[in-house]
Amino acid sequence: MSDWVKGRVAAKQQWAEGLYSMRFEATLEPFSAGQYIKVAMDIDGERVGRPYSLVNPPGQAEPEIYFNAIPEGPLTPRLSDLEPGDTVWLSARASGIFTLDTVQPAKTLWLLATGTALGVYLSILRTATPWEQFERVVLVHGVRQPSDLTYGDTLAEIVAHHGERFTFIPAISRAEAPDALYGRITDLLVSGTLEARAGATITPEDSHVMLCGNSAMIKESKAILESRGLERHRRHAPGQYTTEQYH
Ligand SMILES: Cc1cc2nc3c(=O)[nH]c(=O)nc-3n(C[C@H](O)[C@H](O)[C@H](O)COP(=O)(O)OP(=O)(O)OC[C@H]3O[C@@H](n4cnc5c(N)ncnc54)[C@H](O)[C@@H]3O)c2cc1C
Ligand SMILES: NC(=O)c1ccc[n+]([C@@H]2O[C@H](COP(=O)([O-])OP(=O)(O)OC[C@H]3O[C@@H](n4cnc5c(N)ncnc54)[C@H](OP(=O)(O)O)[C@@H]3O)[C@@H](O)[C@H]2O)c1
Repeated sequence: MSDWVKGRVAAKQQWAEGLYSMRFEATLEPFSAGQYIKVAMDIDGERVGRPYSLVNPPGQAEPEIYFNAIPEGPLTPRLSDLEPGDTVWLSARASGIFTLDTVQPAKTLWLLATGTALGVYLSILRTATPWEQFERVVLVHGVRQPSDLTYGDTLAEIVAHHGERFTFIPAISRAEAPDALYGRITDLLVSGTLEARAGATITPEDSHVMLCGNSAMIKESKAILESRGLERHRRHAPGQYTTEQYH
């Protein structure tokens, strides 16, 4: 069971309708970039907790999460109603193996996200590890609408630190927008459009791919990657892709 600590909402940002990030005042145990905590509220006498990836890098004081309000969901409509000063429960210890800890160094790290899965990569990218293990990092954010493209300032900071070693590619599936690719990540992989935009090719020899977010995107992307010879990474059997499913 989770070892809960009380936290206070320190800041809430609404990025678009139903799309939020939240920072908490709370003292948690040290974690590795890529891990998640549980956030809970007591609802009708029951503690309702859900996992959320940490957006902040290790060592940064306030834990931060990025989430959307699912109208029919038990937790998120209530979570998104909280204001600074309100209390929540947080698991003291982070969990999860969606980290770079055991991944083999390679030429290019590909980070593929749908929706709020962007957040986990913002934690990883603000540590030294990807920049020590890979020559280049390509981050792809797949969203429905232009208003779902968020955290522009944080992405600009990463560009400022790492220059041409970092490529950010927004992909919008339900509208066309300047500078963004049009379509789903999976279709853009199959057509070669994604790699053409990145100026790099995904191969088992020189790539590691992380997939996070929508389970259907992950399932279809896995099939595409496996058809190109990439294998799932395991701690004791190194491969070229790792996954974390949110829904
Ligand atoms: C390891 C892990 C890490 C996660 N990290 C995050 C995170 O950083 N940010 C985040 O927003 N969610 C994350 N999730 C999902 C999160 O835990 C909740 O499920 C989500 O916030 C909805 O909670 P809920 O109680 O309102 O509804 P739930 O009862 O949990 O879900 C209701 C329905 O909403 C859909 N759904 C759930 N999550 C999402 C989502 N993120 N986007 C779109 N549809 C969704 C599913 O179809 C689900 O059946 C993570 C899940 C896991 C397993
Ligand atoms: N702004 C927000 O993010 C927001 C705000 C309020 C509420 N919500 C709620 O959150 C839920 C959806 O959130 P979301 O838009 O972040 O997540 P999502 O439905 O997972 O969509 C994110 C991206 O993943 C794509 N995708 C879906 N299935 C795929 C597949 N099989 N292969 C490849 N790509 C795939 C989507 O493309 P398609 O467009 O083709 O599906 C979209 O580009 C809904 O319940 C919504 O009501 C979201």
